[in-house]
Amino acid sequence: MSVYLGIDIGTSGTKTVVCRAEGTILATATAEHPSYFPQPGWSEQDPEDWWKSTVQSVRQALARAGVAGHQVRGIGLSGQMHGSVFLDAQGQVLRRAILWNDQRTAEQCQQIEQAVGGREQLIRWVSNPAFTGFTAPKILWVRQHEPHLYERTRKILLPKDYIRYRLTGEFVTEVSDASGTLLLDVAARRWCRPLLDKLQIAEDLLPACVESQEITGKVRPGVAEELGIAAGIPVVGGAGDQAAGAVGNGIVRAGIMSATMGTSGVVFAHSDRVQTDPQGRVHTMCHAVKGTWHLMGVVLSAGGSLQWFRNHFATPEIRLAAERHVDAYDLILALAEQAPPGAEGLFFLPYLTGERHPHSDPWARGAWVGLTVRHGWRHLARAVVEGATFALRDCLEVMAELGIVPQQIRLSGGGARSAFWRRVQADIYGQKVALINATEGPAFGVALLAMVGTGAYASVPEACDATIRVTEEIAPCPQRQAFYNRCYATYRQLYPALRHLFPELSRLSHM
Ligand code: XUL
Repeated sequence: MSVYLGIDIGTSGTKTVVCRAEGTILATATAEHPSYFPQPGWSEQDPEDWWKSTVQSVRQALARAGVAGHQVRGIGLSGQMHGSVFLDAQGQVLRRAILWNDQRTAEQCQQIEQAVGGREQLIRWVSNPAFTGFTAPKILWVRQHEPHLYERTRKILLPKDYIRYRLTGEFVTEVSDASGTLLLDVAARRWCRPLLDKLQIAEDLLPACVESQEITGKVRPGVAEELGIAAGIPVVGGAGDQAAGAVGNGIVRAGIMSATMGTSGVVFAHSDRVQTDPQGRVHTMCHAVKGTWHLMGVVLSAGGSLQWFRNHFATPEIRLAAERHVDAYDLILALAEQAPPGAEGLFFLPYLTGERHPHSDPWARGAWVGLTVRHGWRHLARAVVEGATFALRDCLEVMAELGIVPQQIRLSGGGARSAFWRRVQADIYGQKVALINATEGPAFGVALLAMVGTGAYASVPEACDATIRVTEEIAPCPQRQAFYNRCYATYRQLYPALRHLFPELSRLSHM
């Protein structure tokens, strides 16, 4: 029996899936790794911890699947995007990696936009404006604040590409993850020379950049033993976690989109041509499907808002859930459902960690707006669920302005597990939403890329067609859809009405 491995180096841990070419998942295993927050707004991880969690999850997944290491035919890598690993001439890590959710680089983002002559010009070159989480501003930050380390830097890698280096000894990335560095000419699918020149970043600090399905190297003998697999197994490019997740959801053709309600919320659309919002209100990046692109809207605290609500307002539900051996979210959502749609005129803005899309505002704050004495806990909970969903609709609206209208939206993440939240999504998006058979997300997506790269399938769409099918489809309810359209018209006026107050709220955080 031949099997393929998909390895996803996520923010909380590394997940490995073992699957067969027809798509059957034989086993999965996840090993956690720690995060470090050395200062407010900073977020770092130790690449050595990623390696340890990779070894542990691969060994465990293979043991659970009951397959021997020599049966593995190919490996695909996925990972948290935008992080930066600085290596010296010996390939040693010079400092902890700075992650996608690190906020220290606001100044460097401004410097980049100034260096190229403005935000519009930057969007023309790399299809995106500068975001604090992206890699390029982190490179400038290290050069300015840790020049002694920058001088010794010989390669800068993304998280999954560091694991590739440990596996194969090769310095390679691929177009989907490279799109999130802010250094890739997304339209031409190669490093953006003019920008590298302006920022005085030598191109040889960056790895080679290939298409996601290409073979990038083979597992080295020493590490093969550590992982319990055979030396020489091909490792394909893989993809950043969002593009990988989209492949795993079958978002590889125009018309099918996905909405993932995890800690962050992501709306993802495939595109056969480069389409960029001139205002930068959604990302445009290379897709993991050769010669195609994708648009993506990222809401920073979508499911994260409900997690915050659970942690701070649902102690009795957490206790009850533990006693009954059920999930506290199920109890919270069942109570939220008892409040009426629209929560009797109560709105929640989910900007608990600022916002990326469409507002790009690190100062944005969350709020409940519209409280009356009639409102109780159930209304507050329902408003959180609806507010997170309205925020994803904001991203869908930007895409609609660009002419991208879905025929179907495939749901994943925690928000897809609840029948109630699935209905709320159908009604608020005003679109048919669907569930699919594959639920292993990015790790499964890159296992499919490994199958394509090693010849099991001719193309990524062919691999998706053979393995992914819709299991449930929910159409919006016309009455609720019409009512939510009216609610959304009010929701979208709330951020502009409050925006000017947010920076002052931040200053008022300390006496
Ligand atoms: C995508 C993004 C996150 C990270 C971490 O732009 O910031 O999805 O990749 O998962």
